[in-house]
Amino acid sequence: MPSGGAMPIGGAMPTGGAMPTGGATPTSGGSGANDDPSTIARGATVYATQACGSCHGADARGVHGPNITMSQTAGIGTWTYPQFHDAVRLGKDRDGSNLCVFMVAVTEKDISEADMLALHAYLKSKPISDKGNRGDYCP
Ligand code: HEC
Repeated sequence: MPSGGAMPIGGAMPTGGAMPTGGATPTSGGSGANDDPSTIARGATVYATQACGSCHGADARGVHGPNITMSQTAGIGTWTYPQFHDAVRLGKDRDGSNLCVFMVAVTEKDISEADMLALHAYLKSKPISDKGNRGDYCP
């Protein structure tokens, strides 16, 4: 299994279908199936300590902020890892515009690059909700 330390980090990392998994590739960040339980557990801790759940819900299905489960239709299932990264790190939407002010950008002091990957792994591990919910904080 990949160890956190050996993983390439940073927003430019390719994720998803295009990435080879397993085999000779020593690292597998962003490729879902290979996220190990300790990474997911670490992500759960980040999700809790950064209070993501206070807006997105403990189940990530949306409360004040939107559904951020991996639903393809109602959540962030079609977002790439770099897009997710920039939403949390920079408060940027997929088109590069700013998300509304309630989605506060989180610096590396509070979520390291490795923690960001773990956070994403945690969200990927959670049950999906296809129920549209943009929350009640932003228009
Ligand atoms: C104070 C409430 C609040 C907190 C805390 C918060 N968010 Fe958000 N988040 C929002 C709101 C509101 C939006 C929607 C912004 C918009 O529509 O412009 C959002 C949007 C997002 C998006 C983009 C999804 C989309 O469809 O727009 C992601 C990804 C996200 N948040 C992840 C997180 C993570 C991970 C954390 C914890 C580090 C977090 N958020 C903490 C309120 C919050």
